[in-house]
Amino acid sequence: MASSEAGFAIASQQRDALIEFVKMMLAPAFALEVLDERAAILFERLEAIIEEYRLGQNTKLKKLVPTIGTFYTPLQLVHAWKDYDAYVRISKRGLVAPSFSEIRHILNLAQIYASTEDPNNLRLVTFDGDKTLYEDGGNFLPDSKLVDRLIILMRKKLYVAVVTAAGYKGNPTRYEERLGGLLRGMRKRELTEEECNRLLVLGGESNFLFQCNGDFTFEEVAPERWLTPAQTWCETGATPVLDVAEETLLKLKEELNIPARVIRKELAVGLVKRPDAKRLEREQLDEVVLTVQNTLNDVMAAPNSDVPMVPFCAFNGGQDAWVDVGNKYIGLRTLQDFLGIEPKQCIHVGDQFTAVGNDISTRDACPTLWISGPEETGRVVKMISRAVRDMPTL
Ligand code: IMP
Ligand code: MG
Repeated sequence: MASSEAGFAIASQQRDALIEFVKMMLAPAFALEVLDERAAILFERLEAIIEEYRLGQNTKLKKLVPTIGTFYTPLQLVHAWKDYDAYVRISKRGLVAPSFSEIRHILNLAQIYASTEDPNNLRLVTFDGDKTLYEDGGNFLPDSKLVDRLIILMRKKLYVAVVTAAGYKGNPTRYEERLGGLLRGMRKRELTEEECNRLLVLGGESNFLFQCNGDFTFEEVAPERWLTPAQTWCETGATPVLDVAEETLLKLKEELNIPARVIRKELAVGLVKRPDAKRLEREQLDEVVLTVQNTLNDVMAAPNSDVPMVPFCAFNGGQDAWVDVGNKYIGLRTLQDFLGIEPKQCIHVGDQFTAVGNDISTRDACPTLWISGPEETGRVVKMISRAVRDMPTL
């Protein structure tokens, strides 16, 4: 487990119900030292229950894991377990049970196998930005192994999109800076204009869309070409939502003694570290995010409320907390519609799938991969690019 993940399983807002369920499912076999013979059978049964649930034939899974989301493809859990165990030999261990991260890896593998079984299935791979494509607050580095792997996807007619909270309205240059290493790699490898057009950025969760052109820069896609009525509604209802969010952030900053300041943008409000502060504590940011989520939900649900039911995303960004109007679920759905792609033809890769994260909403929009940082993104993209590399270009 990477050190940044060490606290994952501790607090309830950091837990994942399906992963906890799989850990619980494997625990007795591990304790009785029969994981070697039982794990594949257990995963086979889970695979079947998920498939029955996916096809609407059985609601058992919903009863076992009430917060379970949508499955857009079957999961190849047995295949994933066998490959992962052959490599890491969990079943040969006697003292350390399968961990949260190991189950997360197995679920990722099961999804990659399912999504690439027919390599022509996959048409769009979306990525979160911070802590997924690059380090938190960093930029895409030119020597990143991801450059060549993402280029393979674009050359094989897949769309690649960055779906990020980072909102720089009307400012493509800011995204060009952050994705500079990738754009430079694309120029160096002389991608055609058509290939460049397959790289998009959706910023502010779901609010601003940019497309790469043949000059290796980003151009804003005119709102009327892609914005849906739900997003226009987000914009018009933004002010009262952000007023409540801002007031709550200011109050919590004082109450919890957080060395931060509050920033207001057109479609977002954030709590960010003061320049003189060393760091912000995860627990404090989690408290802020959960409180803002509850406050906004309560205010919106109140009878005769002045605050409209506008989709929003309040999340802990690691060293800041933000409330954005819109969310990545809407972002992914809109992008799929714009490109004419079905949810099962898409995968979203991100690092924030807990209740205080901003990738969690994508689980209802398409299959997802939960990674812990850019290095792991490199590994999953390597697998995906290998699967699509040898397919004949349509
Ligand atoms: P993501 O991980 O790519 O979704 O980016 C999240 C990070 O983007 C946050 O933690 C912030 O540091 C940064 N950010 C910059 N502008 C905004 C904004 O308007 N809303 C939310 N996050 C923002
Ligand atoms: Mg992130």
